[in-house]
Amino acid sequence: MEHFSDITPEEQEKLIRIARDAYTKAYVPYSHYPVGAATLWTSGRIFPGCNVENASYGLTMCAERNSIFQAIAHGERTLKAIAIAVPTETFPSPCGACRQVLREFVADCQVILVNGQGHTQITDLKTLLPDSFGPEYLTEE
Ligand code: THU
Repeated sequence: MEHFSDITPEEQEKLIRIARDAYTKAYVPYSHYPVGAATLWTSGRIFPGCNVENASYGLTMCAERNSIFQAIAHGERTLKAIAIAVPTETFPSPCGACRQVLREFVADCQVILVNGQGHTQITDLKTLLPDSFGPEYLTEE
């Protein structure tokens, strides 16, 4: 499903490279499951994120939300694409909470999943989160 033509192959390559680098920074002493993410915003900037766990397990932050929140703190508001990378053979899949947080900053975007072999699967947010609730519901006249 290649309907996000606004993302160049160069941007895709860069996102994938940054997401793969990001999982090497993950803090995962409990799950031993490192995840890296990289988000591309309408400004053209890319922000990395990794998962950060905690001895109080429920405080764990996913790589995707870490990346998104860093971008928001730097003034970004509109998402263009995300890459999510793991070192395992099995491809990653963003959790439900992260899908909803992605949805806050774009109605649909390309989602690039990358496994440990560097193979990619391309999907999109609408497929991952159909019939979704978003911020425009609250601003309707
Ligand atoms: N995790 C992510 O960072 N992103 C995902 O897409 C799935 C789950 C993290 C949370 C936790 O640190 C570890 O993976 C195991 O759930």
